[in-house]
Amino acid sequence: MPYTFARSEALFRRAQQSIVGGVNSGIRKMEAPVPLYFARGSGPNLWDVDGNHYLDFQLGQGALLYGHAPAGMAEALAAQAKLGTHWAAQCELEIEVAERIQKMIPAAELVRFNNSATEVVSAAFRLARAHTGRKLILRFEGHYHGWADEGLVGFANPAAAWGDDENPAHTHPSKGVIPEVLEQFVVARWNDVAHLRRRVDQFRGQLAAIVFEPVLCNTCCLEPVEGLLATIRELCDRDGMLMISDETITGFRFGAGCAQGYYGYKPDLTVLGKAVGGGTPFAALAGTKAAMAKILSGEVVHAGTLNGNPLCLAASKWCLDEVVAQGPDFPQVPQALGRRLMDSLTALGREHGVPLRPQGPGLIFHAVVLKPGAAEGPIRDYRDYVRRHDAPRWAHLRRCLLEEGVRAIERGLWSISTTHQPADIDEALRRARVAFARHAATWQAPV
Ligand SMILES: Cc1ncc(COP(=O)(O)O)c(C=O)c1O
Repeated sequence: MPYTFARSEALFRRAQQSIVGGVNSGIRKMEAPVPLYFARGSGPNLWDVDGNHYLDFQLGQGALLYGHAPAGMAEALAAQAKLGTHWAAQCELEIEVAERIQKMIPAAELVRFNNSATEVVSAAFRLARAHTGRKLILRFEGHYHGWADEGLVGFANPAAAWGDDENPAHTHPSKGVIPEVLEQFVVARWNDVAHLRRRVDQFRGQLAAIVFEPVLCNTCCLEPVEGLLATIRELCDRDGMLMISDETITGFRFGAGCAQGYYGYKPDLTVLGKAVGGGTPFAALAGTKAAMAKILSGEVVHAGTLNGNPLCLAASKWCLDEVVAQGPDFPQVPQALGRRLMDSLTALGREHGVPLRPQGPGLIFHAVVLKPGAAEGPIRDYRDYVRRHDAPRWAHLRRCLLEEGVRAIERGLWSISTTHQPADIDEALRRARVAFARHAATWQAPV
């Protein structure tokens, strides 16, 4: 029998009386049939308040690289909590965490801590402008850099306002932003090297930085095409711009050296979030000494009451040691599991007439469902994704999966943790088979 969610539904009704919209982050409303309330988690397993058990691939929007409630982390947090939860001052732990990051990421010559990647992105943009004396930042369509005014420009341009392929629009999905913010960004399409060169040339001398997700995890999990990252590096060097690698999702998931180690490039600034804190509110800006210089000189303000919070630091130290403890087979082991899951989901789709085409490097992937008549072949950029991905059909399939106890991120992203075992993937596929059959029997395309 598919799961039911009576207790979550009752809590959601109650929450709406005290919390705006019943949730504390807009995206959580996407979960259908109801935003779920959870009771506990362990490794890849998650239980909601109705007692339903899930094999979890949502993993706290990717933050839980080490699974739910890893035992060692709980102990590290408890030990630190007994010593103090907050000092707004220095402690040796922050040096220990900084030194670990330095060791793991060659481009991390120096670091600063914050509590969210949104804040770190703001600091990186400020540094880039101060460093170059220029105001424009080039970013890519479909890339997400946090929810602040600056991070969302051109993120999900609505199709009606795309602009031509050569000049993507810089719309903002939120009302209430400082209108001038939109003018501080140049938007380019992802994965088109020649277009990027033209876009940079068009604004040559005015650009402070190029910012990007090395794998476009926030739209369809699009890996960079051959030569793209090297071109970004080359253009940044040529024009004195800072290369800002937003590794909020890819950081440590792609190995101790992050995506920059995996793909082999060296950015000026790196944004770290999610896995660096393993589910605690912790994020870091890492960079070269030259790129960090304006913070050192005091010309760029970087602050925060909870920066370097000892609880987050205790968690982060545990997380970074856990990455190293995975040894030389990391990230190949979770990657192989993810690839097997992708292949098996594709096969299940074939069996049930569902045009599912998972895309991504396995460590993380996106469940693309092709629209009727859409062309085959890998999706390349945000526009291609909007044109070919059948979002309503994925939403229906995702709900069927959830009701059988397999949980992916609402928008279609699946992450693999270091705790998923081959048996967990087998069990997820056994459940998915039931979900696919029900989806195939009940899905009706909107007319
Ligand atoms: C690539 C990227 N950058 C920045 C952020 C913002 O992170 P946070 O929600 O911690 O502010 C996110 C969040 O999902 C992200 O995926």
